[in-house]
Amino acid sequence: MQPAQLLALLAAGEPLSGAGLAEQAGVTRAAIWKQIETLRARGVPIEARGAAGYRLPWPLQMLDAKQIRAGLPAPLAHALGALEVHWELDSTSSELQRRGASAKDFSVLLAETQTAGRGRRGRTWLSPPGLNLYLSCLKRFELGFAALSGLSLAVGVIVLRALEQLGITGAGLKWPNDLLALTPGRPGGKLGGILVELSGEYQGPCAAIIGIGLNLRLTPELHTQAGQPACDLAALADGTPPDRNRVASVLIAALVEGLRQFESDGFAGFGADYARHDLLHGQPLQLSGVLGAFDGIGAGVDARGALQVRMADGSLRLVDSADVTVRRA
Ligand code: BTN
Repeated sequence: MQPAQLLALLAAGEPLSGAGLAEQAGVTRAAIWKQIETLRARGVPIEARGAAGYRLPWPLQMLDAKQIRAGLPAPLAHALGALEVHWELDSTSSELQRRGASAKDFSVLLAETQTAGRGRRGRTWLSPPGLNLYLSCLKRFELGFAALSGLSLAVGVIVLRALEQLGITGAGLKWPNDLLALTPGRPGGKLGGILVELSGEYQGPCAAIIGIGLNLRLTPELHTQAGQPACDLAALADGTPPDRNRVASVLIAALVEGLRQFESDGFAGFGADYARHDLLHGQPLQLSGVLGAFDGIGAGVDARGALQVRMADGSLRLVDSADVTVRRA
């Protein structure tokens, strides 16, 4: 028995005995126990309820490519170069990179779990199975890297558009592209992250691999491991996140539409939406990194998506390096 099969059996949230699971899967109870431990080690909070057996604290939906595709408007479903759901990848973005030229435009990969999920600036992206979404999309562009400034900010807006369609409004953007929960009076926990990686020609055909990690359910252990305040869609939706396949469909549809909009209008088409969701606007900030360290007040972003910081002398300083840490002072 594979961990994916076991998780699928437990997905309904009903308790299942070790003996019952072993019978259903046609394996020994020891084999079930081993896979229960494997899933637990990966961060799945499987509870043991004495004679009643094993259960998840809540039901979950296993990702299903057919369901995700069925949830897309037909013209958008046809636009996809690929739509694949994997149980495990090192990283959905690394897999798209390996496919290189053979990957078609709008190829979308999802994985239930990543063994080497990557965040910005060399960080690891925790990717336990069954709880969250890990998705990468390849989009090709004709006009080179310069035309792509602001792309990662635009993707933040696209993800928020998807969340709004799902009825979730309590989220905003922290430059350059963190998705944070809105928690008045204190820094919001991180709901998701975006990693955009470019390859190709500086002034010609190039490709963007857009990786999105979205927290649907975080366990207390994951909150601790995250090493920074984190939040999940469950917390913004009265304790139950939207169906995972529906989140994937809505997100993919928003990505196809939004990336087409970016291709024709660039960041200009996203500036107003970004401003509406800009959590740093008017906030005292501490910045540090390749530019040294300095303080200022967040003053929105410019037409290319660079962060504008109002300095004490009233001047505006532009920050467009991704290698900068921005903190609310
Ligand atoms: C960040 O540091 O905030 C960006 C996190 C991006 C994580 C996603 S999960 C899907 C894709 N695959 C990866 O390895 N990383 C991105």
